[in-house]
Amino acid sequence: MRELMQSIAREQPRINAEIARHLALLPPIARPVAEHVLSAGGKRLRPLLTLLTGRALGCARDDLLYTLGAAVEMLHAATLLHDDILDNSSLRRGRAAAHTVYGSTPVILAGDALLAKALLMVSSFGDARLTACISEAVMRTAEGEMAEFANLRNGAMRHNEYIEIITGKTAWMLRASCELGALSAGADASAAGAAAEFGLELGIAFQMVDDALDFSPSRHTGKPTGGDVREGKATPPLLLYFAALPEKEAAALRGKFASGSFTEEEIAAVSEAILLRGHAEATREMASVHLEKALSALGALPDCPERRILEEMTQYIQRRDL
Ligand code: IPE
Ligand code: IPE
Ligand code: MG
Ligand code: MG
Repeated sequence: MRELMQSIAREQPRINAEIARHLALLPPIARPVAEHVLSAGGKRLRPLLTLLTGRALGCARDDLLYTLGAAVEMLHAATLLHDDILDNSSLRRGRAAAHTVYGSTPVILAGDALLAKALLMVSSFGDARLTACISEAVMRTAEGEMAEFANLRNGAMRHNEYIEIITGKTAWMLRASCELGALSAGADASAAGAAAEFGLELGIAFQMVDDALDFSPSRHTGKPTGGDVREGKATPPLLLYFAALPEKEAAALRGKFASGSFTEEEIAAVSEAILLRGHAEATREMASVHLEKALSALGALPDCPERRILEEMTQYIQRRDL
């Protein structure tokens, strides 16, 4: 994964500079909130996907790629601001979540401003395909969050419902990050479709690994341990745990999950048991199926250094602990 790490280190300064340039134009109340989340770190994977797919398919216009990359990261930041309110979560990127510092009203408004700014940045190029691509991803993300909300505390959720949720809330934004790169390169429908497919499968795997990581110590992830149990999200590690327990014990835990009555001690104990019994690892295994699909979609892109870095990205996602 050496080339991927080098690429992240090389690209971050320019991505961050482009983001900063646009943040400076936000309304005054939104600026400190946006800076709070965007200066706290973050892997910047989505803009990197835009740069790499764009260059792999022959886009030489860096101005376009960096602006699109900054736009997807700003959109991502908007969803994180809103997400921590929706999830009532207190920690993000190792910092106090913005709503606990600034209050919900400024944070909701800052999220709206970031979202609108990102759409303006994309639409400024006057290419309706770029604008439609990013707008659809925003819609799908919201739909995924709504599907998750509809299934909150549902300890009997089926796998296809889970896939639908994570495809919406996470994978579509990674899909768009890749498709925007491909469209910038003037790729034909088949190459743009392959880039989109790569991003979508990568995104599904990405969220599965995120759901495995949810049970890891927060000093690794910068997010609260066991947040999904606390928030009532029936993710694979928890469902695998329920399924492996003796029926009586499982029924008692399912009941507490459904009523939201787990204590903090119980959440810590469940998180520890999930790690010890290998249910987080099993969830990573689940992700590998989608990473294989992502790799096979990449086969349609020209063989070039950027494609090799995108290939490394699949290994990185499989193994990541942040
Ligand atoms: C967090 O995304 C939200 C999810 C979709 C799981 P990332 O894990 O990409 O977060 P940052 O940008 O690196 O903080
Ligand atoms: C993240 O979902 C998806 C969006 C931000 C739209 P989660 O709620 O599962 O992600 P984390 O764990 O808070 O980063
Ligand atoms: Mg969340
Ligand atoms: Mg959420």
